[in-house]
Amino acid sequence: MAKYIYPKIPPSAIEAAPIELAPQSRSRREALAALAAGAGAACLAPHSIAQPTSLRAPSSTSSPTPPRFRRNTAMSVSEAPNSWEEITTYNNFYEFGLDKGDPSERSGSFKPTPWSVEIAGEAAKPGRYTLEDILRPHALEERIYRFRCVEAWSRVVPWLGIPLRDVLARFEPNSRAKYVEFTTLLDPKQFPGQRSRVIDWPYVEGLRIDEAMHPLTLLTVGLHGRWLPNQSGAPLRLIVPWKYGFKSIKSIVKIRFTERQPATSWNKAAPDEYGFFANVNPAVDHPRWSQAKERRLGGGLFGARVDTLPFNGYANEVASLYRGLDLRRFY
Ligand code: MTE
Repeated sequence: MAKYIYPKIPPSAIEAAPIELAPQSRSRREALAALAAGAGAACLAPHSIAQPTSLRAPSSTSSPTPPRFRRNTAMSVSEAPNSWEEITTYNNFYEFGLDKGDPSERSGSFKPTPWSVEIAGEAAKPGRYTLEDILRPHALEERIYRFRCVEAWSRVVPWLGIPLRDVLARFEPNSRAKYVEFTTLLDPKQFPGQRSRVIDWPYVEGLRIDEAMHPLTLLTVGLHGRWLPNQSGAPLRLIVPWKYGFKSIKSIVKIRFTERQPATSWNKAAPDEYGFFANVNPAVDHPRWSQAKERRLGGGLFGARVDTLPFNGYANEVASLYRGLDLRRFY
């Protein structure tokens, strides 16, 4: 497999997140509910919801047999993982609704197979690839990662996936590929939440190419030894363990290599609250709450409050990616 050497991007080349909106006193959920109802939608560009146009279903389906994988203990934390129940019944997946229980309760009829992913932009091998094409050459790994939501809750999850860089390298990104953009399926028939203007659908996220090519970044297809359930982002999601959970986009249908920093959903919706980088940082508070501590789910009704670690505990592995970057400004 061709080894991809990613371009080094100087901090000066990175676009600043515009800081415009005044901090709001409402919770994120309340603010979203208001947006969905049309109130306060001034910060969202008006848009119409399009029907899905690009997805062409491949003829084969994903195997119903359990995934085969090897445990990567060297890339895993030693903390005890949360249970399947804890990981799959308290979710953020606004395409199914705003409540934490909506994704598990409302995603039953979602069809994650057949599935394909469009590869686009600055690469030698763009095209549409079935999920099977994408997974076939790779061995699945289990990695136990910490997961920290920007809302100050956290958990520990045994994910199953493939290092994203191994997959991306197959499409041969060129030297103009400085960022990678990811897009979730747009399909209001399957995603009831996309019928309301919560954010500018479809959900879009992005990484700098060196972040995408970092060995910790995982293209994820399962958890707890099973294929991803719908509420967790079936069949294919991103996991970037040193970043707030909103970077971990679910149900991906498009990956695009770009020269310019992609416009990402939460950054567009509330740029003063959600930066492009979104590195977990206890020293930089969200405008409406502290990020110094987090509630570890599973430890009783409210969960144990524990200190949040810089880069979610992965500083040794990733801090060097941001040398010279002002993390207060590029939050
Ligand atoms: N991806 C999509 N497409 N839609 C979403 O609403 N929510 C994000 C992220 N990925 C979201 C998404 C947020 S805010 C978080 S915290 C995580 O998914 C939650 O992942 P989990 O439900 O598996 O814990």
